[in-house]
Amino acid sequence: MDPGIDDAVALSVLLNNKNCQVELITTVAGNVTVDKTTKNALKIANFFNSEVPLAAGASQPLVKAFEDAARIHGESGMEGYDFPEGNSHLLKQPAVEAWHDVLNKTEKKITLILTGSYTNFALWYREYPEDVLKIERVIVMGGSLSGGNMTSAAEFNVFTDPEAAKILLSSNLSVTMIGLDVTLKALVDRDWIQKVAALNESGKMLAALISHYNDWHADGWPIHDVNTVAYLLHPEFYSSKKLWVDIATDGPAIGETVADIRAAYHQGRTNATVATDIDADAFRNWLKQEISSMTR
Ligand code: BDR
Ligand code: CA
Repeated sequence: MDPGIDDAVALSVLLNNKNCQVELITTVAGNVTVDKTTKNALKIANFFNSEVPLAAGASQPLVKAFEDAARIHGESGMEGYDFPEGNSHLLKQPAVEAWHDVLNKTEKKITLILTGSYTNFALWYREYPEDVLKIERVIVMGGSLSGGNMTSAAEFNVFTDPEAAKILLSSNLSVTMIGLDVTLKALVDRDWIQKVAALNESGKMLAALISHYNDWHADGWPIHDVNTVAYLLHPEFYSSKKLWVDIATDGPAIGETVADIRAAYHQGRTNATVATDIDADAFRNWLKQEISSMTR
């Protein structure tokens, strides 16, 4: 993850939901530098007294030059709430080694949730290809079936590291992609934010962060990354299609996710389940409920 305001909301839900056992949190450069995304992830983990280990990951995309999104998430990447700092659970190991260790030790299969660029995934996959046997599936926020937020073609997470996205989609793992075209359908407005702020201290903290999110659309804010967790826990909120998806790694459409919607060229072969629609009211109600049952 690259917290990032919407990443912070997603992590808060995961750390509090009793049905989720979070094994490891890793950070990557994205919305801001990896030093900052790591500090931000630690702030959320400390806020909830989490014991989940955290490891810092890639500071650069595989090939492309790094460009942040501080204009959207603020200079620190998570403006709006005064968190005490702390780094009690920061591992010395880099993210890729920490992934490898967790996957080696676990008996169970693991779900990977990627809410930043997929650079850590690509580095780990190249280094430890045999680890894929321990992966149940991968759920990512990123890409889009139409339109982008970095360029008219490209969504930020895929645009940040298109080569890594290409590696993910060639991995033969079960990948679910929840793209911008869907996350933009589930906005939260000022009224929702006010209700959330009144719930508890977690609601106050999350409402403060979202209010500082410079990603306002006509009726409210998207909280893109939370959709990965919503999909994990409530796939029934979403419609989806199995498609072949490829990535433009060069040229004017760099970072575009190109889906074979007609299923013609690839003759029915698919490499991803792609979300196509969302029940936005169900998503908003669920998220409010999750926040109301948080431990603080
Ligand atoms: C994605 O880009 C980042 O700015 C957000 O955190 C989200 O992961 C949305 O395009
Ligand atoms: Ca993110």
